Amino acid sequence: MFHRDYINFKESITTFKISDMARDLHKKGFDESTQAKLAIFRDYLKEWLPVFLSKKEILWDTVNIFDFFAGPGEDNQGNEGTPLIITQEINPYFDQIISKKIDINLYFNEYDKKKFNVLKERLIPETRDLAPYSIEIDNLDFKEAFNKCYPIMKNKRAANLLFLDQYGIKHINEEIFKKIIQLKATDFLFFISSSTIKRFSDHPEIAKYIGLDKESIESTPYYKIHKKVLEYYKTLIPANMTYHLAPFSLLKSSGGLYGLIFGSGHILGMEKFLTTCWKVDPERGEANFDIDDDRIDNQYDLFTGALKKPKKIEGFERELENNILNCKIKNDRDLYIFSITNGFTPSHTRKILTSLVGKKKIKKNIFDLSHRIIKKEAKVTPIELI
Ligand SMILES: C[S@@+](CC[C@H](N)C(=O)[O-])C[C@H]1O[C@@H](n2cnc3c(N)ncnc32)[C@H](O)[C@@H]1O
Repeated sequence: MFHRDYINFKESITTFKISDMARDLHKKGFDESTQAKLAIFRDYLKEWLPVFLSKKEILWDTVNIFDFFAGPGEDNQGNEGTPLIITQEINPYFDQIISKKIDINLYFNEYDKKKFNVLKERLIPETRDLAPYSIEIDNLDFKEAFNKCYPIMKNKRAANLLFLDQYGIKHINEEIFKKIIQLKATDFLFFISSSTIKRFSDHPEIAKYIGLDKESIESTPYYKIHKKVLEYYKTLIPANMTYHLAPFSLLKSSGGLYGLIFGSGHILGMEKFLTTCWKVDPERGEANFDIDDDRIDNQYDLFTGALKKPKKIEGFERELENNILNCKIKNDRDLYIFSITNGFTPSHTRKILTSLVGKKKIKKNIFDLSHRIIKKEAKVTPIELI
């Protein structure tokens, strides 16, 4: 984990253009934070695929994966990029795809002609092995590729996963974001260079793409800027719509702060993403560094002798306990929703319940903290206070 003391701010570049931000990561080789991003993507894919491919009951007969900024397939050291991660992760499912007759479509787009050609060469052998999916590879500007695919994404019998690994900040603008969140059975993961917004808050190009005002950007600490960007995207969700968004902040050793934003209309999608995040960041589940500046590093509390916990976990435990004892959280369905919407997995909540039972504050019972509890027909178990 990086500590924030390692960060050095860079002087603003006066002749800045958003399009200048791209430094070719495929030529340099993937650095630590790019590897972390790709690990999150791979892990999420591992969680996502079985939901659509391994279930007994098939609800979606078509599964589409879109990688709109695909790159050439790997970096100059042979580290796999998203296209190869996708084809590798689908390999174990060939039998199920065939036996369940699921239509799998992989779509890759890369604007740079050279990279596009390398990608084609790299992916053609994959299809030659009679893989049970179709592959389409385009050499288009993102917007054109997105508009071309949008009618395919709207198919009501299709589940979609969109990966939008842009350089910089400009492609996932209000129009694109709003179109994505209208789609059914669609999860997305996009990358955004949040520190660009902080460093160039004055620049007219920023306001063109991200609707955050200069004052709110300037009053946000550097390390929290990715969370601020998430808040902006949350404001684009219509008030009458339930939609889940979560951030993961990535700090480069050079000091740049980037991040992923995950979105899903379904709480199970959110649970899967959180599971991935907590694996990468077991302390807070949201960054590859100490985002809250807790500086706990295995310290013990002077008074209790217990291992110190991150502030985020302490705050969640306190709030959950208060809400249970004040009857705001009444049953296991409330517990599940409260955990996920606050960025915690049900296993965190389970520990708090066990402790409340131990402290004789609630009665022992069998609580269902899985996503099944949100189904209409689920049997909900009330929490009984002692
Ligand atoms: C961050 S890299 C993607 C890395 C890729 N996901 C991987 O794992 O290797 C962004 C890619 O987007 C491409 N790109 C840049 N501008 C684009 C545009 N307007 N439309 C589509 N692709 C673009 C770049 O050439 C670059 O390969």
